[in-house]
Amino acid sequence: MNHQAKLLRGRILSFTSAPSGPEDTSAYLYEEDGALLIRDGKIAACGRYEEVVAAAPDRVQVTDHRPHLLLPGFIDTHIHFPQAQVIASWADQLLDWLNDYTFPAEQKFADKAHGARIAEGFYDALVSNGTTTAVAYCSSHPNSVDAYFEEAARRGMLMVGGKTMMDRNAPEALCDTAQSSYDDSKALLEKWHGRGRAHYAITPRFAITSTPAQLEAAGALLKEHPDCHLQTHINENHNEIALTKELYPEAADYLGVYEDFGLLGPKTLLGHCIHMNDRELDVMKETGSIAVFCPTSNLFLGSGLFDKARLEGSGIRTAIATDVGGGTNYSMLRTLDEGYKILQLQRQRLHPLETFYWATKGNADALGLSDRIGTLDAGTDADIVVLNARATQPMALRMETVETLSEELFLLQTLGDDRAVVETYVAGQPRKDEINDI
Ligand code: GUN
Ligand code: ZN
Repeated sequence: MNHQAKLLRGRILSFTSAPSGPEDTSAYLYEEDGALLIRDGKIAACGRYEEVVAAAPDRVQVTDHRPHLLLPGFIDTHIHFPQAQVIASWADQLLDWLNDYTFPAEQKFADKAHGARIAEGFYDALVSNGTTTAVAYCSSHPNSVDAYFEEAARRGMLMVGGKTMMDRNAPEALCDTAQSSYDDSKALLEKWHGRGRAHYAITPRFAITSTPAQLEAAGALLKEHPDCHLQTHINENHNEIALTKELYPEAADYLGVYEDFGLLGPKTLLGHCIHMNDRELDVMKETGSIAVFCPTSNLFLGSGLFDKARLEGSGIRTAIATDVGGGTNYSMLRTLDEGYKILQLQRQRLHPLETFYWATKGNADALGLSDRIGTLDAGTDADIVVLNARATQPMALRMETVETLSEELFLLQTLGDDRAVVETYVAGQPRKDEINDI
C-alpha cells in the first residue's frame, strides 16, 4: 500500500442520489475546479481544489487532470470472465450461442494456466475502459475462480464473482453435480469472500442448466451466507423460457423456479429480465431482487427490449451491465449508449445524468456497496475514472459546440469508448498506463 498522499485535480462529478430529471442539480456534486485527496487507497477529501489543497499535507504529490472529468470508476454488474474469447461470435440466438460457442470456450478453463492468461486480458480490458468493479460468472471449474480473484488481488480491485453451478444440459466436461457444486462453491466462498477486496457471488447459471437438487443447494448456500450475492439469468429469450417451463412444470413461472428454491432477495442479481409477467414483477419487488439490463447483449443475441419504466414503475431496483461475451463491448460508455437506444425504441428517453448515475452510484447501490464504491465521497475507496470528451477528432469537433455538463456527458456516452479513458485509478493507484499496448 502506498501511504504517500496524492492529490488529483480536475473537474469532479459524483452522484448523491438518482437524478429525477435534467434539472435535478441536488442529485450530484460537480466541481469545475475540484480535487480529490487520496490516502491509503481511500478518498480522504473531495471538493473545491483550493479547499482540498489547503487541507493536504505540504509535499502532497499533485496530478493535474484538467480539463478532464473525474468520476467514480464504472461498475459492471454482469459479465462472464470465461467469455473473453466468445465475444464477437457469429451466432443465432441464446441457446445456439451457448451450445455452439460459449460452452466449448468455457471448457478450456479446466486448465488453470489458461484461466490465468485470460484473466490478464480480461482485467486489462476492464481497466482500459475505466471499469473498476465487475460482477462476473467464472466457469464451472474452481480453478477459474482462483484465476479470477488472484488477478483482481494483484491489481487491488474490488471484484465480485463465483463458480458457475451447472449440472445438466451442457457438455459433460462443464457439468458438476449438485453436491460437488455446493462443496466447491462453499470452499471457494470461504477462501475468497472478504479476503482483501474480493466478494463471492453464488452463481447457478440458469434454470435450464441446473437440476432442482442443484438449485436447492444454491438456496442452502445463500441461506448459510446471506452476505454473499447470488447471480443468475432469467427471461432473456423465448426458447429459453419455453424450455424452462418444460423442465420445471410445477413452478408458477420462470421466476417461480428461483423463488421456490429461496434464491431471491436484496443481494440477488437477475440478468436480463426482459420477458416478465406481472406476477414476476410483484415477486421481484417483494424480495428486493435486482433486474440487470444488458443492452449490447440483448441486441446482439436478438433477445428483446428491457422495459426499464415498467420494472422501476413496479418498484424494482435495476442495474446496468455489459454481459460480455453475449455483450459486445467492455465499455460502460458503449453500454450506456446502446441502453439509451433500447429505451428510445420504447419512448423512455434517459437523460445523461441518469445514465452516468446508473453506471456509478446506481450500480453500487444495486450491489449494496455504495458505502465503498460508486461515489467520490470521503472515506470510500479511491476507484476513479478520468474521462476526456475530446479524445477523438469527431469528439473534439462536437465539443466545440458543447456548453453544459449534461451535453458533455451525452457526447461521452454516444461517441466515447476506451479512448476517452485517460486514466483509471484502482484504490488510488493509476492502472491504465501500465497496460501495454498490444
Ligand atoms: N444464460 C445462461 N448462460 C448465459 C450466458 O452465458 N450469457 C447469456 N447472455 N445468457 C445466459
Ligand atoms: Zn450473462
